[in-house]
Amino acid sequence: MSATDPTDDTLSRLIARHRDCEGPLLPILHDMMEAFGHIDEGTYPQLGRALGITRAEIHGVVSFYHDFKTRPNGHHTIKLCRAEACQSVGATETQSALFDRLGLTDFGTTPDGRITVEAVYCLGLCACGPAALVDTQPRGRVSAQSLATEVGA
Ligand code: FES
Repeated sequence: MSATDPTDDTLSRLIARHRDCEGPLLPILHDMMEAFGHIDEGTYPQLGRALGITRAEIHGVVSFYHDFKTRPNGHHTIKLCRAEACQSVGATETQSALFDRLGLTDFGTTPDGRITVEAVYCLGLCACGPAALVDTQPRGRVSAQSLATEVGA
């Protein structure tokens, strides 16, 4: 079993861990993200049967929270701040240059599956924008060059 290959056994254990809690769906989804790196839509029927909720209800929750992914991210994830303070110091130009460097036309994952670029809206690093998170590490005064170098692109 790989970390990105949801299995009935693993999912059953995650469901059993939270089934009797009040509001079990969110903790189960968080555990699925940790175990599988994403929430495969193919798991919705099993989740729905276990929790007595519909596929639409599960989809509504998964699609509402940006941190829930229905496909695995790349090996590295760059979360580039797109909020106003960072825009005022070049975040838009940084984004364009980073997309050019990585071969992206929009936020998403590179064709080789190695790097995912996501938009975020304020990381609390406004004084040192443009700001980003590279995997879990905050970075200030980033450039396309510095970000690409950090993820080996
Ligand atoms: S606006 Fe970018 S970190 Fe706050």
